[in-house]
Amino acid sequence: MKFFVDTADVDAIRELHELGMVDGVTTNPSLIAKSGRDIKEVTREICEMIPGPVSAETVALDADGMIAEGRELAKIADNITIKVPLTWEGLKACKVLTGEGRMVNVTLCFTANQALLAAKAGATFISPFVGRLDDINLDGMELIAEIREIYDNYDFSTEILTASIRTLNHMKQAALIGADVATAPPSVIKSMAAHPLTDKGLDGFLKDWAKTGQKIL
Ligand code: E4P
Repeated sequence: MKFFVDTADVDAIRELHELGMVDGVTTNPSLIAKSGRDIKEVTREICEMIPGPVSAETVALDADGMIAEGRELAKIADNITIKVPLTWEGLKACKVLTGEGRMVNVTLCFTANQALLAAKAGATFISPFVGRLDDINLDGMELIAEIREIYDNYDFSTEILTASIRTLNHMKQAALIGADVATAPPSVIKSMAAHPLTDKGLDGFLKDWAKTGQKIL
């Protein structure tokens, strides 16, 4: 499973990238606003660091507007993935932009039927938002499993990009189900390394080691 980082925080991306943990990056208008930076400037900086797909989101509501914004964002770098919302207009924009050979990430997906439409429109990535479904007492990971089954039934090449990840369980389930990609905030990716028994075990080893009086270096 590929790891994308869901942030526009360049320092946080760099830290994970140095460990080889970043296959791509996703941003959205809220994350750009949080960064306090110009969308083109910060996205360019991310694209220079990360060779994989970097999603930059359009904000127009009509297909023509999304197409124009998508083409403009695509000028930033070759690895830009244009993000459009899963609306009828977004699907139209997806069809045109993928027809031009551009990568398109169809975002704000909440049902398997929406994901089916995105695949038919030629999306490179579909982004089902699991955390936001959990927020309204639905099962986000069930949606990922449904989309996996549907895409496999018909050999769609659209990649399932599990988004709105909030928990370690989301990461594990995405990998078990066979999602192609998981995009998560840096804090979630870093917390995958943590376990209280690891800390407790390390503490015990170090205490016993101290009793030996030995040194390795
Ligand atoms: C994905 O591309 C989105 O940017 C993101 O995962 C949304 O996550 P949120 O629901 O935590 O805002």
